[in-house]
Amino acid sequence: MKYNTIKITPSEAEKILLELYGIKGNASSLPGYVDFNFRIKIENEEGYILKITRPEENKKYLEFQQHVLQFIEINDESLIAPKVIKDKNDDSISEITDGFGKKRYVRLLTWVSGRVWSSVNPQLEDFRFSLGKQCGILTKALLGFDHPEAHYNFEWDIAQSLWTKEQLHLFTTDKKEILSYHQDNFEATQAAYLSLRKSVVHNDPNDNNIIVSSDVLNPKAIAAIDYGDAIYTQIINDVAILCAYGAMGHNNPLDASLALVKGYHSTFPLEEEELEHLFHAIAMRLVIIVTRAAMSKIEEPDNEYLWISEKPAWEVLKKWHKISPEFAHYCFRKACGFTAHPNEKLFNNWVSKNHFQISVLFPSIKLNDAHHIDLSVSSTWIGHLEDFNNLELFQFKIDQLQKEIPTKIIAGGYLEPRSIYNSKAYDRMGNHGKESRNIHLGIDYWLPATTPVHTLLDGEVIIAVNDAGDKEYGGLVILKHQIKAIPFYTLYGHLSVKSATKNKVGDVIKKGAKIGELGNYPENGNWSPHLHFQVMLSLLDYQVDYPGVAYHSEIEVWKSICPDPNLLFNSEPLQKKEETSLKDLINYRKTHLGKSLSLHYKIPIEMVRGAGQYLIDSLGRKYLDTVNNVAHVGHENYHIVKAGQEQMALINTNTRYLHKNINALAKELIETLPPELNVLHFVNSGSEANELALRMVKAVTGEKDIIASEVGYHGNTNMCVDISSYKFDGKGGKGAPEHTHIFPLPDTFRGKYRGNHTAEEYANEVREQIKNIHSKGRNVGGFIVEPIISCGGQIELPKGFLKKAYQIVREARGICISDEVQTGCGRMGKTFWGFQLHDVVPDIVTIGKPLGNGHPLAAVACTQEVAEKFADGTEYFNTFGGNPVSCAIGTEVIRTIKSKNLQENALVVGAFLKAELKTLSKDFPIIGDVRGQGLFLGIELVDLQLNPLAAQTNYLASRMKDFGILMSIDGPDQNVLKIKPPIIFTKENAEELLFTLKSVLSENFLKLN
Ligand SMILES: Cc1ncc(COP(=O)(O)O)c(C=O)c1O
Repeated sequence: MKYNTIKITPSEAEKILLELYGIKGNASSLPGYVDFNFRIKIENEEGYILKITRPEENKKYLEFQQHVLQFIEINDESLIAPKVIKDKNDDSISEITDGFGKKRYVRLLTWVSGRVWSSVNPQLEDFRFSLGKQCGILTKALLGFDHPEAHYNFEWDIAQSLWTKEQLHLFTTDKKEILSYHQDNFEATQAAYLSLRKSVVHNDPNDNNIIVSSDVLNPKAIAAIDYGDAIYTQIINDVAILCAYGAMGHNNPLDASLALVKGYHSTFPLEEEELEHLFHAIAMRLVIIVTRAAMSKIEEPDNEYLWISEKPAWEVLKKWHKISPEFAHYCFRKACGFTAHPNEKLFNNWVSKNHFQISVLFPSIKLNDAHHIDLSVSSTWIGHLEDFNNLELFQFKIDQLQKEIPTKIIAGGYLEPRSIYNSKAYDRMGNHGKESRNIHLGIDYWLPATTPVHTLLDGEVIIAVNDAGDKEYGGLVILKHQIKAIPFYTLYGHLSVKSATKNKVGDVIKKGAKIGELGNYPENGNWSPHLHFQVMLSLLDYQVDYPGVAYHSEIEVWKSICPDPNLLFNSEPLQKKEETSLKDLINYRKTHLGKSLSLHYKIPIEMVRGAGQYLIDSLGRKYLDTVNNVAHVGHENYHIVKAGQEQMALINTNTRYLHKNINALAKELIETLPPELNVLHFVNSGSEANELALRMVKAVTGEKDIIASEVGYHGNTNMCVDISSYKFDGKGGKGAPEHTHIFPLPDTFRGKYRGNHTAEEYANEVREQIKNIHSKGRNVGGFIVEPIISCGGQIELPKGFLKKAYQIVREARGICISDEVQTGCGRMGKTFWGFQLHDVVPDIVTIGKPLGNGHPLAAVACTQEVAEKFADGTEYFNTFGGNPVSCAIGTEVIRTIKSKNLQENALVVGAFLKAELKTLSKDFPIIGDVRGQGLFLGIELVDLQLNPLAAQTNYLASRMKDFGILMSIDGPDQNVLKIKPPIIFTKENAEELLFTLKSVLSENFLKLN
C-alpha cells in the first residue's frame, strides 16, 4: 500500500486525541518506521506521544508492547521509560476506523523529554559507556517478562537474520561478497548461538531511540523509547544492535563499540559464550539494515526514513569486513573484564613451571645472562633518531656495548614504545586522531649474523617465508607448539632468508633442533642482526605479516595474545620494571618544585622526545606542535644537536677568552639586522635580554620611567615583571609600579579603539603617558613593545602605529626597544624581524626563544651609541652568556633558517593557513577574528555580541590535544588560540590542523546559540 494513502495528518491526530482521551494538544508528525507517530504538546506539561498504526495491524502484538511498558513501570520504578495512558474507556489500546473503512489502533504514551543520542557530538568514552549501561539496566528490568506475542517472526530480529540471504540479488558483486561473508560466518556458528541466553529485549536501541541528558559537556543516556520492536530473542542481540549504531561514523568501529559493551556489562554482566557471537551479531544487524533499505527503496520510495541508516551502515560493514572476528572477540572479552585471550591463564600457569636457558635458543653462544637494552622512545642510549636510523652507527654502538659486557646477551624490547616505526605505514587514523603502531610485542636478542637459532620445544612449522619489506622481518619462521590441548606459537624474525625458507610448512622440528640463522642486513629487513622472538597464543588471520608492534590503544588485548617471551626464560634483567607513573611525577613536583609552576592539560603529558614539528610522549604518541616557537627550526634538529654536542666535547668557557664562535654568531645576526644595530651582548634568556635593555635605557637617558603596552609580557625578573602588565594586572598582580606607564592594548578587533584606522588614536595614548611622566616632574626613559603582542592574544599593531609611537618617544628623548623574543628570526615570513613590518629601526632589539632552538641563549642588539654609553666603566660579565657551546648552537640556528629558506616557508605556509582559517570562520561564527603574520597567528573566539568565550577556547584546545594537536591559549580574556609552531611547519601539517579544527568546531559546545 502506498505510504501517502495511509498517512495521517497532525490535525487528524489532534481530533483523535480529543475524542479518545479527552486531551487537547498540538500534534506534530515524528518519523516512524511502521506507526504514524505524533508529538503532542500541551502547555506547561511534558506532553505525550500518540501512536496510530497502519491498517490491519495485529492487536495482540500491540498488547504485548503495552505490557512491556507496564512491566518496566512496575519492575523498576527508577527506570525512565514512556508510560501507558489509558483512554476514556480505560483501554490501553483504542480502535478507530480510517477514511477507507480500515481499522487502526491508537495508543497514547507519556513523552520522555530530552535530546536523542544522534544529536550528541562528540560521543566520548563516558557517554558511550552510559549508553551501554542504560541498555544493560533495561535488559535487567525486562528479565523474567514474557508474552505469547513476544515470540514472532520478525525481519529485524538478528536471530532470524538469515532471510537476508534471499535478497543478495539486490546488490553489486563487491557488496554481495561482504554480505555473504557475514551471513556465512553467522550461519556457521548457529548451533552455539541458538543456545545463548534469551529474554524479551528492546531490540532497537538505535541513535534515535535513546534519550540523553541535557548536559552538553557531560551527556549521559537516561532512557530508551520506542519499544515497537521488542521481541524474545538472544540477549546479546540487544548489545549487538547498540554497537551496530554506536559504531557508525567512527574511523575505528571496533574501538567505538568497546565502551558500549563495557557499559552494558557493568549493569548486565555478559557471559563469555555470548561474547563469542557478538562480532557476527553486530554484522548481521548491519546486514539487515542495508538489505531492508535496498528493499524499501523499491517498496516505498517516498519514505526516506526507511533508509536513513543505510549509508553509515555500509561504511561500518566495509570496515567490519577487514577486522579479524577473533581479534574483535578478544577486545570484547577485555572490555568485559575477562582475559582478552581465553587461554592466557592456562599459558601463564604452564609457563610458570617450564623455564628454559637462553642458551637453548642460541647454543653456539653458550651465554645465559641477559643485559637489558632500552630502545624505547625515551632511551638516551639510542640518542637522536637520525643516529638510531644509521645502521652502521647503531651496529658500532652494539659492538662496543658487547665488548664491555662479553658474558651477556644484549636483549630487550617487550612492550617498549618505540619511535623507529615512524614511516606512514605504521600510522592510522583512529577515533582520536592519528595513532602509530609502535609498541613492541617481542624480545630482540642482538647477536651477530649467522648465529644459529634453535627451538625450545617440539614444534610444527606454520609459516616460513621471506618477509623482507621496509623494516619487516626478512626471513621469518613461526612454529606451532602444543601444551596439552592448547596451541601456542613462537615467532623467529630477521633470520637469513635462506635459512628461513629452507623450512617447509608442516615440517616438525624437534626440541633443541636448529631452525635457522640470524640474517644480516639488508636481507633481514634492513636491521642490525638480531632475533625478534615473539610468543603468540593465537595466529589470528595473519599469513605472513604477523604484527611485531601494536597500537597503544589495543595493547591490553595484544599483551594477552602475545605474552612476554621472557616468561619462558625468567631472566631477571628482562623482567618488566615498574615505571614511574604520571601520578608519581605530578606528586613529586607538587611537593618539591616551585608551587607556582603550571602544567598543560587536565591530564598532563610526559613528553620524552622531540622530532621536527612533533613531540612524542612516553607512550610513543606523536603530537603535532603548534605551540613551540622555541624549537624554531624543529625539535631536536639534527644539525643543531650536533653543533652543541661537538662544541661541548671541546671547550665551554666564558667571554673573557677569545673564541671564534661568539664572533660567528654576532656576524650571522648582524647580517640580518639594519646597519645601525651592530653591537651584540649575549645572555641566557629573554628576561635577561630585556633586563639588560632596561639597564641600557637607564645608562643612556638617566631615566627609569618606561612606557609599555597593556597585557604585554617581557620576562620574569624583577624589572621585567615591573613592565609586564600581563603579570601585574593579571592573576595575583598588584598593579603598575610607579615608574611603569601602560598604554591600552592596541587591539583593533575588541580594543579601546577599533577598525583599521586606529594608529593615531593608540599613538596618542602613548603621548598621554609621556605627558603623565612629565606631570610628575620626570622624563621618559624607554618605550618597549612587541611587534605582535603575543600574550595580549597575537595582537597585530595597527598599521603606522609603531612609526608614530617611536617618533613621539624619541621627541621626548626616550629609547625604543623592540622585544623580538617571540617574533624574531624569520617567523614573521615577510621580514626577519617583527619591527621591519612597521618600517622602523629600534635603538635596542631583544632576542630570545628561537635563537637557541631550546638551548638557553638570548641576545641584545643595539646601536654603537647605546653600547658606548652603557660601557660606563662597570664590567658587564655574564658567566654563561656568549659561551662557545651556546654560540655554536645559535650560529647553526641562524644558518639553518637561511640555508633552508625557513623565513620563506613561514611566509608561504603562514599565508595559506591564515587564509584557510578565515574561510573556516565563515562556517563557524564562533571564530570572531583571525590575525597575525607568517607562522605567528591567532584565532579569537567570541559570541555574536563579541563577548570572549574562554571556556570554549579551553575546550577547543583540550579537544585538539585529544586528536594529537597541541595548541596554546592567551589574551587578557583567555579566548585566543595561538598558532606559533616550529617554522619548518609544512602545508600538510597546516591541512591536518585545519581538518581537525573543523571537526572539533562542529561539536555541540562550540555552537553559538
Ligand atoms: C615577548 C617576551 N619577552 C620576553 C620573554 C621572557 O623570556 P624568557 O622566558 O626566556 O626569560 C618572553 C617569554 O615568554 C616573551 O614572550
